[in-house]
Amino acid sequence: MPIIPTPITIVRLSFISVLAILLIACSDKKNDLQTIDYVQLDKSLLKVEVLSDSLQVPWDMVVSNDRNLFFTEQYGAVSVINLETNQQRKILVIPEVWHKRTAGLLSLTVHPDFKQNPYVYVHYTTKTDSLIYNHLVRYTLKGDTLISPKELLKIKGFTAHNGGRLAFSNNGKLLWATGDAYNGDESQDVNFLNGKILRLNADGGIPSDNPNPKSYVWARGFRNMQGLTVTDKGYIFTSEHGDAIEDEVNLIEKDRNYGWPAIEGLHNLPQEIAFAKANHTKEPVKSWTPVIAPSGITYYGSSAIAEWKNSLLLSTLKAKSLRVLKLDEEGKAITSEEIFFDNHYGRLRDVCVDADGAVYISTSNKDWKPQVGFPLAGDDKILKISLTDKALKKPLLGSKVSALADTKDKAIDAAQLYQNYCVSCHQADGKGVKGIFPALAGSNLVNGSSSNLVKALLKGINRAENPQKMPGFAFLKDDELAAVMNYIRQSWGNQAAKVTEKEIKQNR
Ligand code: HEC
Repeated sequence: MPIIPTPITIVRLSFISVLAILLIACSDKKNDLQTIDYVQLDKSLLKVEVLSDSLQVPWDMVVSNDRNLFFTEQYGAVSVINLETNQQRKILVIPEVWHKRTAGLLSLTVHPDFKQNPYVYVHYTTKTDSLIYNHLVRYTLKGDTLISPKELLKIKGFTAHNGGRLAFSNNGKLLWATGDAYNGDESQDVNFLNGKILRLNADGGIPSDNPNPKSYVWARGFRNMQGLTVTDKGYIFTSEHGDAIEDEVNLIEKDRNYGWPAIEGLHNLPQEIAFAKANHTKEPVKSWTPVIAPSGITYYGSSAIAEWKNSLLLSTLKAKSLRVLKLDEEGKAITSEEIFFDNHYGRLRDVCVDADGAVYISTSNKDWKPQVGFPLAGDDKILKISLTDKALKKPLLGSKVSALADTKDKAIDAAQLYQNYCVSCHQADGKGVKGIFPALAGSNLVNGSSSNLVKALLKGINRAENPQKMPGFAFLKDDELAAVMNYIRQSWGNQAAKVTEKEIKQNR
Protein backbone atom coordinates (compact mmCIF):
# COMPACT_ATOMS: atom_id res chain seq x y z
CA MET A 1 0.00 0.00 0.00
CA PRO A 2 1.47 3.40 -0.94
CA ILE A 3 2.19 5.67 2.00
CA ILE A 4 0.37 8.96 1.67
CA PRO A 5 2.29 11.63 3.54
CA THR A 6 0.22 13.40 6.14
CA PRO A 7 0.98 17.08 6.91
CA ILE A 8 2.77 15.98 10.10
CA THR A 9 5.17 13.60 8.31
CA ILE A 10 5.93 16.34 5.74
CA VAL A 11 6.84 18.74 8.56
CA ARG A 12 8.97 16.00 10.17
CA LEU A 13 10.73 15.14 6.92
CA SER A 14 11.55 18.75 6.15
CA PHE A 15 12.80 19.23 9.74
CA ILE A 16 15.09 16.20 9.35
CA SER A 17 16.44 17.44 6.01
CA VAL A 18 17.17 20.90 7.45
CA LEU A 19 18.98 19.20 10.31
CA ALA A 20 20.94 17.06 7.85
CA ILE A 21 21.96 20.12 5.82
CA LEU A 22 23.03 21.88 9.01
CA LEU A 23 25.11 18.87 10.09
CA ILE A 24 26.81 18.62 6.69
CA ALA A 25 27.52 22.34 6.75
CA CYS A 26 28.98 22.05 10.26
CA SER A 27 31.26 19.15 9.39
CA ASP A 28 32.98 21.25 6.71
CA LYS A 29 33.55 24.14 9.06
CA LYS A 30 37.01 24.74 10.46
CA ASN A 31 37.12 24.49 14.24
CA ASP A 32 38.91 27.50 15.72
CA LEU A 33 41.59 26.54 18.20
CA GLN A 34 42.24 28.16 21.54
CA THR A 35 45.70 29.78 21.88
CA ILE A 36 47.13 29.20 25.36
CA ASP A 37 50.75 30.39 25.09
CA TYR A 38 53.36 32.09 22.93
CA VAL A 39 57.05 31.25 22.57
CA GLN A 40 59.74 33.72 21.50
CA LEU A 41 62.74 32.25 19.66
CA ASP A 42 65.68 34.38 18.38
CA LYS A 43 63.50 35.73 15.58
CA SER A 44 60.40 33.56 15.18
CA LEU A 45 57.34 34.03 17.38
CA LEU A 46 55.31 30.87 17.98
CA LYS A 47 51.81 30.26 19.31
CA VAL A 48 50.63 27.17 21.17
CA GLU A 49 47.05 26.07 20.48
CA VAL A 50 44.94 23.24 21.89
CA LEU A 51 44.22 20.87 19.00
CA SER A 52 42.54 18.24 21.19
CA ASP A 53 41.82 17.79 24.91
CA SER A 54 40.29 15.43 27.50
CA LEU A 55 42.28 12.49 26.09
CA GLN A 56 43.61 9.42 27.92
CA VAL A 57 47.40 9.28 27.39
CA PRO A 58 47.81 10.02 23.67
CA TRP A 59 50.89 7.83 23.15
CA ASP A 60 51.86 8.23 19.52
CA MET A 61 51.02 10.69 16.71
CA VAL A 62 51.78 10.69 13.00
CA VAL A 63 50.75 12.98 10.12
CA SER A 64 49.81 11.28 6.83
CA ASN A 65 50.53 12.74 3.39
CA ASP A 66 46.84 13.66 3.02
CA ARG A 67 46.99 16.08 6.00
CA ASN A 68 45.48 13.93 8.71
CA LEU A 69 46.95 13.51 12.18
CA PHE A 70 46.45 9.98 13.51
CA PHE A 71 46.99 9.22 17.20
CA THR A 72 46.63 6.38 19.70
CA GLU A 73 45.33 6.51 23.25
CA GLN A 74 46.90 3.94 25.54
CA TYR A 75 43.64 2.23 26.55
CA GLY A 76 43.08 1.10 22.95
CA ALA A 77 41.63 3.84 20.70
CA VAL A 78 42.87 5.23 17.38
CA SER A 79 41.56 8.66 16.30
CA VAL A 80 42.21 11.00 13.42
CA ILE A 81 42.16 14.80 13.21
CA ASN A 82 41.69 16.43 9.82
CA LEU A 83 44.28 19.23 9.86
CA GLU A 84 42.28 21.32 7.35
CA THR A 85 39.15 21.44 9.52
CA ASN A 86 40.52 20.38 12.95
CA GLN A 87 37.61 17.91 13.17
CA GLN A 88 38.37 14.77 15.16
CA ARG A 89 36.86 11.30 14.90
CA LYS A 90 37.53 7.96 16.54
CA ILE A 91 38.19 5.28 13.93
CA LEU A 92 38.99 2.19 16.01
CA VAL A 93 38.81 0.77 19.52
CA ILE A 94 40.71 -2.49 20.03
CA PRO A 95 38.96 -4.38 22.86
CA GLU A 96 41.74 -6.96 23.41
CA VAL A 97 44.31 -4.29 24.36
CA TRP A 98 45.74 -4.91 27.84
CA HIS A 99 46.32 -1.51 29.42
CA LYS A 100 48.52 -1.36 32.48
CA ARG A 101 51.54 0.75 33.45
CA THR A 102 53.41 1.10 30.12
CA ALA A 103 51.58 -1.71 28.32
CA GLY A 104 48.63 -0.94 26.06
CA LEU A 105 48.05 0.51 22.63
CA LEU A 106 51.40 2.20 22.08
CA SER A 107 52.87 3.09 18.71
CA LEU A 108 51.36 3.76 15.31
CA THR A 109 52.51 4.86 11.90
CA VAL A 110 50.96 5.17 8.43
CA HIS A 111 52.15 4.11 4.99
CA PRO A 112 54.38 6.86 3.49
CA ASP A 113 52.04 7.09 0.49
CA PHE A 114 48.84 7.03 2.46
CA LYS A 115 46.65 8.35 -0.38
CA GLN A 116 47.50 5.27 -2.46
CA ASN A 117 47.95 2.80 0.41
CA PRO A 118 45.64 3.73 3.31
CA TYR A 119 47.41 1.47 5.81
CA VAL A 120 47.69 2.26 9.51
CA TYR A 121 50.18 0.15 11.50
CA VAL A 122 49.69 -0.19 15.26
CA HIS A 123 51.52 -1.93 18.10
CA TYR A 124 49.67 -3.04 21.22
CA THR A 125 49.98 -5.36 24.22
CA THR A 126 47.62 -8.21 25.14
CA LYS A 127 47.52 -10.57 28.14
CA THR A 128 45.93 -14.02 28.15
CA ASP A 129 46.28 -15.90 31.46
CA SER A 130 49.84 -14.96 32.39
CA LEU A 131 51.14 -14.59 28.83
CA ILE A 132 51.88 -11.05 27.68
CA TYR A 133 52.50 -10.26 24.01
CA ASN A 134 53.16 -7.25 21.79
CA HIS A 135 51.40 -7.35 18.43
CA LEU A 136 52.23 -5.45 15.25
CA VAL A 137 49.03 -5.19 13.19
CA ARG A 138 48.25 -3.46 9.90
CA TYR A 139 44.77 -1.96 9.39
CA THR A 140 43.21 -0.42 6.27
CA LEU A 141 41.31 2.87 6.52
CA LYS A 142 37.93 2.64 4.78
CA GLY A 143 35.63 5.64 5.17
CA ASP A 144 35.59 6.38 8.88
CA THR A 145 36.83 3.04 10.16
CA LEU A 146 39.94 0.92 10.33
CA ILE A 147 39.16 -2.53 8.93
CA SER A 148 40.85 -5.79 7.82
CA PRO A 149 43.42 -6.22 10.61
CA LYS A 150 46.42 -8.26 9.50
CA GLU A 151 48.88 -9.35 12.21
CA LEU A 152 52.43 -8.89 10.91
CA LEU A 153 54.36 -9.95 14.04
CA LYS A 154 53.80 -11.05 17.62
CA ILE A 155 56.59 -10.89 20.22
CA LYS A 156 56.98 -11.23 23.97
CA GLY A 157 55.76 -8.45 26.26
CA PHE A 158 55.82 -7.39 29.91
CA THR A 159 54.02 -4.81 32.09
CA ALA A 160 56.87 -2.43 31.19
CA HIS A 161 59.77 -2.23 28.68
CA ASN A 162 57.52 -2.88 25.67
CA GLY A 163 59.14 -0.05 23.74
CA GLY A 164 58.01 0.88 21.26
CA ARG A 165 57.75 3.01 18.22
CA LEU A 166 57.10 2.51 14.51
CA ALA A 167 58.41 4.52 11.55
CA PHE A 168 59.06 4.12 7.86
CA SER A 169 62.62 4.40 6.54
CA ASN A 170 63.31 6.60 3.52
CA ASN A 171 63.29 3.53 1.28
CA GLY A 172 59.87 2.31 2.40
CA LYS A 173 60.81 -0.27 5.05
CA LEU A 174 58.84 -0.49 8.28
CA LEU A 175 60.97 -0.10 11.43
CA TRP A 176 59.82 -1.30 14.84
CA ALA A 177 61.78 -0.32 17.97
CA THR A 178 61.01 -3.07 20.51
CA GLY A 179 61.63 -3.12 24.28
CA ASP A 180 63.62 -5.81 26.11
CA ALA A 181 60.42 -6.91 27.95
CA TYR A 182 62.54 -6.82 31.13
CA ASN A 183 64.96 -9.48 29.91
CA GLY A 184 68.20 -7.70 29.00
CA ASP A 185 70.05 -10.84 27.90
CA GLU A 186 67.60 -11.42 25.06
CA SER A 187 68.34 -8.01 23.59
CA GLN A 188 71.87 -9.29 22.82
CA ASP A 189 70.55 -12.52 21.25
CA VAL A 190 69.51 -12.21 17.58
CA ASN A 191 67.21 -15.23 17.98
CA PHE A 192 64.85 -13.07 20.05
CA LEU A 193 62.98 -10.07 18.65
CA ASN A 194 62.92 -8.05 21.90
CA GLY A 195 65.37 -5.20 22.52
CA LYS A 196 65.90 -4.70 18.77
CA ILE A 197 65.30 -2.48 15.81
CA LEU A 198 63.27 -4.77 13.52
CA ARG A 199 62.98 -4.02 9.79
CA LEU A 200 60.07 -5.31 7.70
CA ASN A 201 58.62 -4.83 4.25
CA ALA A 202 55.39 -2.80 4.23
CA ASP A 203 53.44 -6.08 3.85
CA GLY A 204 55.22 -7.72 6.80
CA GLY A 205 57.81 -9.77 4.89
CA ILE A 206 61.55 -9.80 5.65
CA PRO A 207 63.56 -7.49 3.36
CA SER A 208 66.25 -9.38 1.41
CA ASP A 209 68.88 -6.78 2.39
CA ASN A 210 68.48 -7.29 6.14
CA PRO A 211 71.75 -8.40 7.85
CA ASN A 212 70.31 -11.92 7.86
CA PRO A 213 67.71 -12.28 5.06
CA LYS A 214 65.81 -14.74 7.25
CA SER A 215 65.54 -12.38 10.24
CA TYR A 216 63.75 -9.13 11.02
CA VAL A 217 66.67 -7.95 13.19
CA TRP A 218 68.40 -4.77 11.93
CA ALA A 219 70.24 -3.72 15.13
CA ARG A 220 70.43 -5.09 18.68
CA GLY A 221 71.26 -4.35 22.31
CA PHE A 222 68.44 -1.98 23.39
CA ARG A 223 66.64 -1.62 26.71
CA ASN A 224 63.47 0.39 26.23
CA MET A 225 63.20 2.75 23.26
CA GLN A 226 60.47 5.39 23.39
CA GLY A 227 61.27 7.39 20.27
CA LEU A 228 62.14 6.62 16.63
CA THR A 229 62.57 8.96 13.67
CA VAL A 230 64.12 9.08 10.20
CA THR A 231 65.80 12.26 8.94
CA ASP A 232 65.61 13.72 5.42
CA LYS A 233 69.01 12.15 4.71
CA GLY A 234 67.66 8.78 5.83
CA TYR A 235 69.48 8.53 9.18
CA ILE A 236 67.55 6.67 11.88
CA PHE A 237 67.58 8.05 15.43
CA THR A 238 66.05 6.54 18.57
CA SER A 239 65.58 7.76 22.13
CA GLU A 240 65.92 5.28 24.97
CA HIS A 241 65.49 5.03 28.72
CA GLY A 242 68.56 4.12 30.77
CA ASP A 243 68.14 2.26 34.07
CA ALA A 244 69.03 4.66 36.89
CA ILE A 245 71.40 6.72 34.74
CA GLU A 246 72.35 7.38 31.10
CA ASP A 247 69.27 8.01 28.96
CA GLU A 248 70.30 7.94 25.32
CA VAL A 249 69.79 9.14 21.79
CA ASN A 250 71.26 6.67 19.30
CA LEU A 251 72.04 6.80 15.59
CA ILE A 252 70.97 3.40 14.26
CA GLU A 253 73.24 1.59 11.82
CA LYS A 254 72.76 -1.75 10.12
CA ASP A 255 73.81 -4.79 12.18
CA ARG A 256 75.33 -2.75 15.02
CA ASN A 257 75.20 -3.66 18.70
CA TYR A 258 74.13 -0.89 21.14
CA GLY A 259 75.42 -2.73 24.18
CA TRP A 260 72.55 -3.27 26.62
CA PRO A 261 72.70 -4.89 29.16
CA ALA A 262 76.53 -5.08 29.18
CA ILE A 263 76.84 -1.36 28.45
CA GLU A 264 74.70 1.49 29.68
CA GLY A 265 75.02 4.86 27.95
CA LEU A 266 78.53 6.06 27.18
CA HIS A 267 81.15 3.34 26.82
CA ASN A 268 83.28 4.64 29.67
CA LEU A 269 83.75 1.95 32.36
CA PRO A 270 86.61 -0.58 31.95
CA GLN A 271 84.23 -3.56 31.52
CA GLU A 272 82.13 -1.54 29.03
CA ILE A 273 85.18 -0.63 26.96
CA ALA A 274 86.19 -4.32 26.84
CA PHE A 275 82.69 -5.40 25.73
CA ALA A 276 82.57 -2.58 23.15
CA LYS A 277 85.86 -3.74 21.57
CA ALA A 278 84.73 -7.35 21.35
CA ASN A 279 81.23 -6.63 20.01
CA HIS A 280 81.43 -3.81 17.44
CA THR A 281 79.14 -1.64 19.55
CA LYS A 282 78.07 1.91 18.79
CA GLU A 283 78.07 4.62 21.44
CA PRO A 284 75.05 6.92 21.88
CA VAL A 285 75.25 10.31 20.12
CA LYS A 286 74.01 11.82 23.38
CA SER A 287 73.42 10.61 26.92
CA TRP A 288 71.84 12.20 29.99
CA THR A 289 72.72 11.60 33.64
CA PRO A 290 70.64 12.47 35.68
CA VAL A 291 67.92 10.94 33.53
CA ILE A 292 65.24 12.97 31.73
CA ALA A 293 63.06 10.04 30.52
CA PRO A 294 63.04 10.84 26.80
CA SER A 295 59.90 9.82 24.89
CA GLY A 296 58.96 10.73 21.30
CA ILE A 297 61.60 12.01 18.90
CA THR A 298 61.06 13.57 15.49
CA TYR A 299 63.26 15.13 12.84
CA TYR A 300 62.52 18.79 12.03
CA GLY A 301 63.59 19.53 8.45
CA SER A 302 61.17 22.35 7.64
CA SER A 303 62.24 25.97 7.10
CA ALA A 304 59.04 27.26 8.74
CA ILE A 305 60.54 27.60 12.22
CA ALA A 306 64.00 28.62 11.00
CA GLU A 307 65.71 28.30 14.41
CA TRP A 308 64.70 24.62 14.64
CA LYS A 309 65.60 23.57 11.10
CA ASN A 310 67.81 20.46 10.98
CA SER A 311 67.22 19.37 14.56
CA LEU A 312 65.76 16.48 16.51
CA LEU A 313 62.75 17.42 18.64
CA LEU A 314 62.57 15.28 21.77
CA SER A 315 59.70 15.14 24.25
CA THR A 316 60.48 14.10 27.83
CA LEU A 317 58.45 12.57 30.68
CA LYS A 318 60.45 12.99 33.89
CA ALA A 319 61.98 16.28 32.73
CA LYS A 320 58.53 17.48 31.50
CA SER A 321 59.87 19.46 28.56
CA LEU A 322 60.52 19.62 24.83
CA ARG A 323 64.20 19.50 23.83
CA VAL A 324 65.52 20.88 20.57
CA LEU A 325 68.72 19.02 19.66
CA LYS A 326 70.46 20.77 16.75
CA LEU A 327 72.26 18.50 14.29
CA ASP A 328 75.50 19.28 12.47
CA GLU A 329 75.49 19.76 8.71
CA GLU A 330 76.12 16.10 7.99
CA GLY A 331 73.11 15.30 10.18
CA LYS A 332 74.76 12.67 12.37
CA ALA A 333 75.90 14.54 15.48
CA ILE A 334 74.11 16.72 18.05
CA THR A 335 75.71 20.14 18.50
CA SER A 336 73.42 21.87 21.03
CA GLU A 337 70.41 21.39 23.28
CA GLU A 338 67.67 23.87 24.16
CA ILE A 339 64.80 23.27 26.61
CA PHE A 340 61.22 24.50 26.12
CA PHE A 341 58.05 24.32 28.28
CA ASP A 342 60.07 23.22 31.32
CA ASN A 343 57.48 21.77 33.75
CA HIS A 344 54.78 23.85 32.00
CA TYR A 345 52.47 21.23 30.45
CA GLY A 346 53.65 18.24 32.52
CA ARG A 347 54.85 14.93 31.12
CA LEU A 348 55.16 14.91 27.33
CA ARG A 349 54.75 11.58 25.52
CA ASP A 350 55.23 12.36 21.84
CA VAL A 351 56.10 14.98 19.24
CA CYS A 352 55.45 15.10 15.48
CA VAL A 353 55.60 17.58 12.59
CA ASP A 354 53.24 18.29 9.66
CA ALA A 355 54.07 19.24 6.07
CA ASP A 356 53.83 22.99 6.88
CA GLY A 357 56.35 22.72 9.70
CA ALA A 358 53.84 22.96 12.57
CA VAL A 359 54.87 20.87 15.60
CA TYR A 360 52.49 18.79 17.73
CA ILE A 361 53.17 17.59 21.29
CA SER A 362 51.02 15.28 23.42
CA THR A 363 50.80 15.33 27.22
CA SER A 364 50.89 12.21 29.40
CA ASN A 365 49.59 13.49 32.73
CA LYS A 366 47.00 10.74 33.16
CA ASP A 367 49.46 7.86 32.81
CA TRP A 368 50.66 5.48 35.54
CA LYS A 369 53.02 8.05 37.11
CA PRO A 370 50.87 11.01 38.13
CA GLN A 371 52.94 14.03 39.22
CA VAL A 372 52.19 16.56 41.94
CA GLY A 373 50.28 19.50 40.39
CA PHE A 374 49.05 17.48 37.39
CA PRO A 375 46.89 16.59 35.47
CA LEU A 376 45.96 20.14 34.45
CA ALA A 377 42.37 21.03 33.51
CA GLY A 378 41.52 19.46 30.15
CA ASP A 379 44.40 16.93 30.18
CA ASP A 380 45.56 15.00 28.31
CA LYS A 381 46.01 17.30 25.34
CA ILE A 382 47.51 17.53 21.89
CA LEU A 383 49.05 20.98 21.42
CA LYS A 384 49.89 22.60 18.10
CA ILE A 385 52.94 24.91 17.87
CA SER A 386 53.20 27.17 14.80
CA LEU A 387 54.30 30.63 13.64
CA THR A 388 52.35 33.75 14.49
CA ASP A 389 52.92 37.54 14.19
CA LYS A 390 51.66 38.86 17.48
CA ALA A 391 51.65 37.72 21.10
CA LEU A 392 48.65 38.62 23.24
CA LYS A 393 50.53 37.79 26.44
CA LYS A 394 54.15 37.51 27.56
CA PRO A 395 55.85 34.76 25.51
CA LEU A 396 57.66 31.81 27.06
CA LEU A 397 61.38 31.43 26.37
CA GLY A 398 63.68 28.46 25.84
CA SER A 399 66.86 27.89 27.83
CA LYS A 400 70.09 26.72 26.25
CA VAL A 401 71.91 23.87 27.97
CA SER A 402 75.53 24.83 28.31
CA ALA A 403 77.95 22.24 26.95
CA LEU A 404 80.22 23.11 29.84
CA ALA A 405 77.63 22.51 32.56
CA ASP A 406 79.79 20.98 35.24
CA THR A 407 78.62 19.70 38.57
CA LYS A 408 82.05 18.59 39.80
CA ASP A 409 82.85 21.47 42.09
CA LYS A 410 79.35 22.29 43.25
CA ALA A 411 78.39 21.90 46.89
CA ILE A 412 76.40 18.73 47.49
CA ASP A 413 72.65 19.28 47.56
CA ALA A 414 70.94 16.19 49.01
CA ALA A 415 67.44 17.12 47.83
CA GLN A 416 68.80 17.61 44.32
CA LEU A 417 70.54 14.22 44.43
CA TYR A 418 67.23 12.61 45.40
CA GLN A 419 65.53 14.53 42.60
CA ASN A 420 68.18 13.43 40.09
CA TYR A 421 68.57 9.75 40.96
CA CYS A 422 65.61 8.49 43.00
CA VAL A 423 62.47 10.53 42.35
CA SER A 424 61.56 8.89 39.05
CA CYS A 425 60.75 5.66 40.90
CA HIS A 426 60.18 6.55 44.57
CA GLN A 427 58.38 9.87 43.85
CA ALA A 428 58.77 13.30 45.48
CA ASP A 429 56.63 12.36 48.49
CA GLY A 430 58.65 9.17 49.13
CA LYS A 431 55.51 7.06 48.71
CA GLY A 432 56.71 5.20 45.61
CA VAL A 433 54.26 3.67 43.12
CA LYS A 434 51.98 1.06 44.69
CA GLY A 435 52.90 -2.51 43.82
CA ILE A 436 55.93 -1.41 41.73
CA PHE A 437 58.34 0.89 43.55
CA PRO A 438 58.24 0.57 47.38
CA ALA A 439 57.65 3.56 49.65
CA LEU A 440 60.72 4.97 51.38
CA ALA A 441 58.52 6.82 53.88
CA GLY A 442 58.18 4.46 56.86
CA SER A 443 60.39 1.78 55.23
CA ASN A 444 62.16 -0.64 57.60
CA LEU A 445 65.27 -0.77 55.43
CA VAL A 446 65.54 3.02 55.31
CA ASN A 447 65.04 3.43 59.04
CA GLY A 448 66.96 0.33 60.15
CA SER A 449 70.67 -0.48 60.41
CA SER A 450 72.82 1.83 58.32
CA SER A 451 75.06 -0.97 57.05
CA ASN A 452 72.15 -2.85 55.43
CA LEU A 453 71.05 0.32 53.68
CA VAL A 454 74.59 1.10 52.51
CA LYS A 455 75.00 -2.40 51.06
CA ALA A 456 71.59 -2.26 49.33
CA LEU A 457 72.30 1.09 47.70
CA LEU A 458 75.78 0.13 46.52
CA LYS A 459 74.75 -3.23 45.04
CA GLY A 460 71.11 -2.64 44.13
CA ILE A 461 68.11 -4.63 45.37
CA ASN A 462 66.73 -7.73 43.68
CA ARG A 463 64.25 -9.53 45.94
CA ALA A 464 62.49 -12.61 44.63
CA GLU A 465 59.02 -11.37 45.62
CA ASN A 466 59.31 -8.23 43.50
CA PRO A 467 59.66 -8.62 39.69
CA GLN A 468 61.24 -5.13 39.61
CA LYS A 469 64.91 -4.74 40.45
CA MET A 470 66.63 -1.64 41.74
CA PRO A 471 69.97 -0.80 40.10
CA GLY A 472 73.03 -0.15 42.28
CA PHE A 473 74.32 3.38 42.88
CA ALA A 474 78.03 2.64 43.33
CA PHE A 475 78.75 5.21 40.62
CA LEU A 476 77.87 7.98 43.11
CA LYS A 477 80.74 9.26 45.24
CA ASP A 478 80.93 8.48 48.97
CA ASP A 479 79.84 11.98 50.01
CA GLU A 480 76.96 11.97 47.51
CA LEU A 481 75.73 8.56 48.67
CA ALA A 482 75.92 9.60 52.31
CA ALA A 483 73.96 12.78 51.53
CA VAL A 484 71.14 11.01 49.66
CA MET A 485 70.90 8.27 52.34
CA ASN A 486 70.68 10.86 55.08
CA TYR A 487 68.06 12.68 53.06
CA ILE A 488 65.80 9.62 52.84
CA ARG A 489 66.49 8.75 56.50
CA GLN A 490 65.27 12.19 57.62
CA SER A 491 62.40 13.02 55.26
CA TRP A 492 58.65 12.23 55.20
CA GLY A 493 58.60 11.43 58.93
CA ASN A 494 61.64 9.08 58.83
CA GLN A 495 63.98 9.68 61.77
CA ALA A 496 67.07 7.47 61.57
CA ALA A 497 70.66 8.23 62.60
CA LYS A 498 73.11 9.59 60.06
CA VAL A 499 75.23 7.41 57.78
CA THR A 500 78.89 8.41 57.48
CA GLU A 501 81.09 8.54 54.38
CA LYS A 502 83.50 6.16 56.11
CA GLU A 503 80.81 3.49 56.35
CA ILE A 504 80.26 3.72 52.60
CA LYS A 505 83.98 3.49 51.82
CA GLN A 506 84.26 0.35 53.98
CA ASN A 507 81.43 -1.37 52.13
CA ARG A 508 82.60 -0.73 48.58
C1 HEC B 1 64.58 2.74 38.34
C2 HEC B 1 63.76 2.80 39.52
C3 HEC B 1 64.45 3.09 40.84
C4 HEC B 1 65.30 4.13 41.15
C5 HEC B 1 65.79 5.21 40.21
C6 HEC B 1 65.59 4.01 42.54
N1 HEC B 1 64.96 2.92 43.06
FE1 HEC B 1 65.00 2.32 45.00
N2 HEC B 1 63.86 0.70 44.53
C7 HEC B 1 63.40 0.40 43.27
C8 HEC B 1 62.77 -0.90 43.31
C9 HEC B 1 62.11 -1.60 42.13
C10 HEC B 1 62.87 -1.38 44.62
C11 HEC B 1 62.41 -2.73 45.14
C12 HEC B 1 63.38 -3.79 44.65
C13 HEC B 1 63.10 -5.18 45.16
O1 HEC B 1 62.30 -5.32 46.10
O2 HEC B 1 63.70 -6.12 44.63
C14 HEC B 1 63.56 -0.33 45.36
C15 HEC B 1 63.81 -0.38 46.73
C16 HEC B 1 64.43 0.61 47.44
C17 HEC B 1 64.63 0.59 48.87
C18 HEC B 1 64.09 -0.46 49.82
C19 HEC B 1 62.73 0.00 50.30
C20 HEC B 1 61.97 -1.02 51.09
O3 HEC B 1 61.55 -0.72 52.20
O4 HEC B 1 61.76 -2.12 50.58
C21 HEC B 1 65.34 1.71 49.20
C22 HEC B 1 65.78 2.12 50.58
C23 HEC B 1 65.57 2.44 47.99
N3 HEC B 1 65.01 1.74 46.96
C24 HEC B 1 66.27 3.64 47.92
C25 HEC B 1 66.54 4.31 46.72
C26 HEC B 1 67.34 5.51 46.64
C27 HEC B 1 67.98 6.24 47.80
C28 HEC B 1 67.39 5.85 45.32
C29 HEC B 1 68.17 6.98 44.67
C30 HEC B 1 69.58 7.05 44.97
C31 HEC B 1 66.61 4.86 44.59
N4 HEC B 1 66.12 3.95 45.48
C32 HEC B 1 66.41 4.89 43.23
C33 HEC B 1 63.50 1.18 42.15
C34 HEC B 1 64.27 2.32 42.06
